[in-house]
Amino acid sequence: MTSAASNLAILGLQWGDEGKGKLVDLLSARFRQVVRFQGGNNAGHTVVVDGQTIALHQVPSGALHPGCFLVVGSGVVLNLEVFLKELENLRTRGFDLSGRLLISSKAHVILPHHIALDQWREGGANKIGTTGRGIGPAYEMKAARMGLRMGDLLHPETMADRIRLGYEEVKILLGGTATLPPLEAITENLIKLAQPLLPLIGDTQDHLWKAWRKGDSILFEGAQATLLDIDHGTYPYVTSSNCSIGGLFAGTGLPPKALHHVLGVAKAYTTRVGAGPFPSELLDATGEKLRQVGREFGTTTGRPRRCGWFDAVITRHACRTNGVDGLGIMKLDVMDGFPEVGMVVGYRDGEGGTLESLPACAADWAQVQPVVKTFKGWDAPTRGITDPKDLPAEARSYLAALCDEAETPLAYLSTGPDRNEGFVPAGSILEPLLR
Ligand code: GDP
Ligand code: IMO
Ligand code: MG
Repeated sequence: MTSAASNLAILGLQWGDEGKGKLVDLLSARFRQVVRFQGGNNAGHTVVVDGQTIALHQVPSGALHPGCFLVVGSGVVLNLEVFLKELENLRTRGFDLSGRLLISSKAHVILPHHIALDQWREGGANKIGTTGRGIGPAYEMKAARMGLRMGDLLHPETMADRIRLGYEEVKILLGGTATLPPLEAITENLIKLAQPLLPLIGDTQDHLWKAWRKGDSILFEGAQATLLDIDHGTYPYVTSSNCSIGGLFAGTGLPPKALHHVLGVAKAYTTRVGAGPFPSELLDATGEKLRQVGREFGTTTGRPRRCGWFDAVITRHACRTNGVDGLGIMKLDVMDGFPEVGMVVGYRDGEGGTLESLPACAADWAQVQPVVKTFKGWDAPTRGITDPKDLPAEARSYLAALCDEAETPLAYLSTGPDRNEGFVPAGSILEPLLR
């Protein structure tokens, strides 16, 4: 995988926050290009290096490796103010991105009325539990052909005309309930914010195509996860982009043959932020213990994450959807010391029948009864283990069952947040890169 034919995607298999950032950072050292292709600052990817924690939202998580060229693809929606703060934060912490960052001229800009609309909807009865960052409306305006692209920032005189209709529609909808800045103030602010970013805007599709053809290795960093995918997730409790494999091609403009391997990332248990189905959720002291030990509070919004057992049904669906070659299983250490650990291995419908595939509608999800299999827990700590031989036998059995249920082999086991906490098992698709 170190040859030209070694491009890898890292995708979330649950409801986000699986630990994608750690794996992207860890693997970035072996890649020349690191690419974000969808999502925006709803993402929060945490990287921990030598005890120092850095949360990345829109900048690809290869930022900490000076040899990585960072690409923000066309499928991303960008909040300029947040992006500039992120760059500044990285600069003050010693990570200079100059000369190694390119933003697609086709990526869309998140505008103040997108944020206002998102937050207004979340104040109503049909809450999705969004991050409130304007992500949904930014993608809606893109689909409605009322969006502003990064390339439009190079033509400031056209900006007001591009966004006027969307702005007026939101204003009518919100009536007097939201105080939107005047359109002129929005465009003036955009022109100011865009100044330092203008030299970074370009044709990322062409850049990536040339990089691929000359044999640069490319790492694709997914944001969110398959169960939050607008098509293949738990609709309507999803985000507004395709966070599974299809979004990678739409969001970069590269063809499928430019991708060679898919690493799927899942926690050894499950979490979700926001509303929506979660059949393996634990609403008891066990769930609370997972939350406290796993520090399950959102990187982006600080909200407590809902916690539950590993759900093999959703993970298998995600592995099939994305063609996952290997699993990155994260946070096994959080499950240390539980007398028993559970795993959801099947779903029954309202009549007691077995469901062969995931329901499509929220009403059907509400009927799902999880089938939980119980495993003996392990006492010995797994935190920081770097040798598979050191894993307690019970943890090994649990992992074997997990991979079996997900129909996918283990590619990486994470036993702590730091880069050096975890290991690549023999035969893993990552073996040529990390061993
Ligand atoms: P992402 O959105 O998929 O990148 O994940 P987040 O960064 O939002 O959340 C994952 C959290 O788990 C971060 O705080 C990581 O530092 C942390 N983490 C990652 N791997 C491990 C691990 O193996 N063990 C523990 N205890 N924490 C981990
Ligand atoms: P990373 O990349 C976890 C969730 C929100 C909400 C739903 C829709 O860090 O894994 P949105 O603001 O996107 O319209 O919210 O999606 N959500 C995430 N949950 N991790 C994320 O990103 C998420 N991005 C969005 O909580 O339920
Ligand atoms: Mg996250």
